[in-house]
Amino acid sequence: MVKETIDPLALQYEFAKRSFYEFLSERDHIRPYITPPKTPVLLLDLEGIKRRYLEVKYHFSQFKVYYAVKANDHVGVLKTLSELGAGFEVASSEELSKVLSLGVKPERVISSNPVKPPDFIDYANKQGVNRFAVDSFAEVDKVSKIAPRSRVYVRLVVPNEGSDWPLSKKFGVDVDTALDILEYAQERGLIPYGITFHVGSQCNNFRNWLIGIKRASELWQKVKARGIRLQALNLGGGIPVKYTYEALRIEDIAYYVKGLLQKFMPAAPHELQIEPGRGIVGDQGIMVCRVIGKAKRGDENWLYIDTGVFNGLAEALGGIRYAFYLDGEGELKEWTIGGVSCDSMDVIARRVALPEPEVGDYLYILSAGAYTTVYAAPFNGFPVPDVVCLEAWP
Ligand SMILES: Cc1ncc(COP(=O)(O)O)c(C=O)c1O
Repeated sequence: MVKETIDPLALQYEFAKRSFYEFLSERDHIRPYITPPKTPVLLLDLEGIKRRYLEVKYHFSQFKVYYAVKANDHVGVLKTLSELGAGFEVASSEELSKVLSLGVKPERVISSNPVKPPDFIDYANKQGVNRFAVDSFAEVDKVSKIAPRSRVYVRLVVPNEGSDWPLSKKFGVDVDTALDILEYAQERGLIPYGITFHVGSQCNNFRNWLIGIKRASELWQKVKARGIRLQALNLGGGIPVKYTYEALRIEDIAYYVKGLLQKFMPAAPHELQIEPGRGIVGDQGIMVCRVIGKAKRGDENWLYIDTGVFNGLAEALGGIRYAFYLDGEGELKEWTIGGVSCDSMDVIARRVALPEPEVGDYLYILSAGAYTTVYAAPFNGFPVPDVVCLEAWP
């Protein structure tokens, strides 16, 4: 019997190649831009962002959607979403002023960072934004002093297992502490408004939503028993994108979450909210770079590109593994991809299957629309990638 062998390099490369051509096949308007004279550049498909937002709206039809501006704060993205009536989740005065400058009313804005700088709370309050997440007594004190009578929602801690970019190590409290925080907020003249949690960014584990909703339901009952009426349940972000594997689909997450809400919170909160960032923009961007060098170091094949972890690919240092594609016919090899700077931390990925490139070749980094250029700094004098927003219409 002939045993079929699976070539892991070919599998990996084919996945990236297919993702690359699928991206282009739906986007004729992007083809002319994929060999730019100057790199690195992030090509962002505004039409795709629009489609993705509408998909989220469709599947989470009972929810208000607040786009998490931190994922990509390019004005083209914000304008596209604001024209569709999206809400926005902001963490800083800069993010808020960008959103407001587009004519977005403050009632469409929330701030879910549980620990906020005082000057931001002050600015937000003066602009008319009055919904803030909290997860400590100190934050309640701060918000009540700077923005009295604001509405506050408490952040619960939930497991972030199976999320490539966990967010539970820094924020969130258990149910009983959350209860005390909400009660304390009321005593301090704030309005207990709701509950939030975050399942972790790039979440591919339904169970995190299950635990989150169960804990929220328990807290909701306990708060009610103390005579406090909440209004909103905010499920945070977490919707995943493609990278190097097929991620959970929005429709499946929405179906599952709605089932959980029916089961655990049948007397539904008046207001259901989500605040996706990565899930809206991640797959709508492609980073175009160039190979600037190659080397063999021991057994390792290295290639170097003209961007790096300091210039837009910071998430490569954590749990995010990008898909890389370059056009070539030769034998596939495993490559370590080094960034442009002198720093030896600046390694973007290891064990990447690619044909042998030539210096000067274009290298495409897929699913690069979220948490890339927003992190970028011109370290070592290397520029942050230009962002080119592309629309299907002239
Ligand atoms: C409070 C809050 N909301 C929403 C998001 C967006 O999450 P994601 O990009 O996973 O959708 C984040 C991400 O850090 C966050 O901190």
